[in-house]
Amino acid sequence: MSHLVITGGAGFIGSNFVNWLCREHPEHDLVVVDLLTYAGNLANLESVLDQVRFEKADIADADTMRGILDGAVGVINFAAESHVDRSLESAAPFLHSNVTGVQVLLDLVRELGIPRFLQIGTDEVYGSTPADVRFSEGDHLNPSSPYAASKASADLLVNAAVRTWGVPALITRASNNYGPWQFPEKLIPLMITNIVEGRPLPVYGDGLQTREWLHVIDHCTAVWAVWTGGEIGTIYNVGTGNDVANIDLVQGLIDLLGASEDLITYVEDRPGHDRRYALDISRLTTELGWQPQISLEEGLNGTIEWYRQNRAWWESIKSGEYREYYERMYGDRDQPAE
Ligand code: NAD
Ligand code: DAU
Repeated sequence: MSHLVITGGAGFIGSNFVNWLCREHPEHDLVVVDLLTYAGNLANLESVLDQVRFEKADIADADTMRGILDGAVGVINFAAESHVDRSLESAAPFLHSNVTGVQVLLDLVRELGIPRFLQIGTDEVYGSTPADVRFSEGDHLNPSSPYAASKASADLLVNAAVRTWGVPALITRASNNYGPWQFPEKLIPLMITNIVEGRPLPVYGDGLQTREWLHVIDHCTAVWAVWTGGEIGTIYNVGTGNDVANIDLVQGLIDLLGASEDLITYVEDRPGHDRRYALDISRLTTELGWQPQISLEEGLNGTIEWYRQNRAWWESIKSGEYREYYERMYGDRDQPAE
């Protein structure tokens, strides 16, 4: 056995990564692990399921994971609860997957002598970023939401395992991703699919919060650059400098889809909402020579096209168990156009 284990590989970024790896580096023997929570979807892996081994498992289940990880050449961990708003409703699943799950993986990497572990992290661990600042990897952690705090905890556990036991681990911290197969609770797919359905577009607060947008394929190439060239014990920020205010992004999607801006509906702000994220990515660009390749315009056009062509994928999600969450979040304002 000399397999590479990808955990969380049926979610948005994990499945894009597995598809990308099967296309670009088919020589790797991949084992994809996912608990298939509400956000995990085997349909995302449909075209590569004959090329990989899939295991439905919980990363926090040490006995099951021991069997899967034994003999692996490495583990790349995308598995997590990922949605900030859901962490405000209940933090428990976030602590289970994002904290306990990561410690279980670290213990197994140490116990089984696995040569490399990459933890997929987020820019949210730095908290809201003052104007004119871009946070670097050494900046302090100041997470605002239970989601962000759970991801910061994971990063601290990884660093502790490196320092205490010499566990061969690295961390990436990426900015907001978008692209195919993103669950429609997140801003960009929510707005695209609501525009297509003629539903209101819920913009939190004044809509002037900014996010740094990274196409998921650019994230995949960055993860691979870190996996193949990154230094153990090091953190790498992954971003683009594409800082856009939410309202401008929503307006841009309306323009690209030829919809009416009357759909914009300002709603109550997210509690603890971070105003701005912005990363300094000079470590990744100078030390590993990585650069994003997909402009925001090209990426948004391609993403819109993907959601147009894969309507059955998101319609089945929007009419399934997600419906209850959607009603709870937006139901009182959501009247689809006649
Ligand atoms: P996602 O919610 O789409 O996918 C997460 C996947 O993990 C799902 O398939 C889910 O079933 C699986 N999972 C959850 N708990 C699990 C467990 N205990 N055991 C096994 N599988 C489990 O999330 P995503 O957007 O693809 O994010 C992937 C990773 O990237 C996460 O660690 C997230 O924190 C990080 N990240 C996301 C973004 C973004 O913009 N989406 C940006 C930076 C970092
Ligand atoms: O920054 C990286 C993070 O990006 C990842 O770690 C998270 O996993 C990922 O979910 C994402 O977090 P955000 O909270 O930034 O993403 P979200 O798509 O939920 O929201 C993006 C922005 O849009 C944010 O400022 C909140 C706003 N928003 C979101 C939704 C869902 C709205 O205005 N209306 C909405 O309905």
